[in-house]
Amino acid sequence: MEHQRDLPQQIHASTKDIHHALNQLIVSRLPLCLPPQADSARLYALGLSNFAWMYFISERAWEEQIARTNNHGDGNTRIAQILHRAYIPALHRSARLYRDLSQLNATVSEKPEGIVQNIVTHITEVAEARPHVLLAYGWILYMALFNGGRWIRKQLAKAGPEFWGTRNFEKACLSFWHFDNSRNEDDWKRDFRARVTEAGNYLTDEEVQDVVAEAKAIFHMCKSVVLELDAISSREQQSMQLFAPQSLAAVSEPFPDMQPAKGPPALSNALLRLSIHGIAAVIVAYIWLWFMS
Ligand code: HEM
Repeated sequence: MEHQRDLPQQIHASTKDIHHALNQLIVSRLPLCLPPQADSARLYALGLSNFAWMYFISERAWEEQIARTNNHGDGNTRIAQILHRAYIPALHRSARLYRDLSQLNATVSEKPEGIVQNIVTHITEVAEARPHVLLAYGWILYMALFNGGRWIRKQLAKAGPEFWGTRNFEKACLSFWHFDNSRNEDDWKRDFRARVTEAGNYLTDEEVQDVVAEAKAIFHMCKSVVLELDAISSREQQSMQLFAPQSLAAVSEPFPDMQPAKGPPALSNALLRLSIHGIAAVIVAYIWLWFMS
């Protein structure tokens, strides 16, 4: 039976705060993987390869569900039909991610590690147990590209051909951020919103609650991926140079209503400056005492 409800609106209302927090985290870290902070795309590729897993696993699970619509006798074909109607092959990112990562010489390991491994296990299990939550993955992961993703794409493009290693960099290594231009990007976005809204009308109240709860969980997963990347890059970059204050100022075109985050990079930088000042003060005091004696 069909119920009139606006699933995207319900997701929006319950993820507003975590979305805002995640925006800030990402906006403050993006400059770290671009010039002048970075002299190669290595850090960008590492970040992308970690986020890529959420697309790989959820898109594969979605396709597996659709395949079920052809198998009669399966108990869960209602959800498979709903997912089938919401499916837009042109939005799928996995092939583009593999292409971009290989152009950037980043290897996608057979088995992810750390937090990404937990995320992969979670998506695999939840997609099997409650396949309707795949609507949350589609909604969050594609809408991220249609909104903040456009701004990120602009910042990435500013790094220019020298940084990306090819004049054709938009197509060769940034294809993840672009959509099939046989149609206007806003048309893809409108079409997908309409399909997810329609899908929501065919879910039970309990299934809608599952989708909304999973949407929240996806934002938290994204946040934990960013925090893990922080830990990896600070381990790799022993030099505090990576966290210089200009890293936050380097976003030359701020996104509307976006404040840079007061996250760990700025904090570690402040601590570094404090300790340098402290050491300098001790040396000056020592020389002064030595003179006086
Ligand atoms: C992994 C990171 C991100 C995810 C998963 C994400 C997800 C989403 C989703 C699902 C929406 C649709 C909201 C709706 O229409 O109901 C959205 C909208 C939006 N996002 Fe993001 N986003 C991310 C990062 C960013 C960043 C970095 C920015 C800013 C640079 C940003 C700015 C926006 C804006 C302006 C909108 C439209 C306004 C709104 O509906 O609140 N997002 N994002």
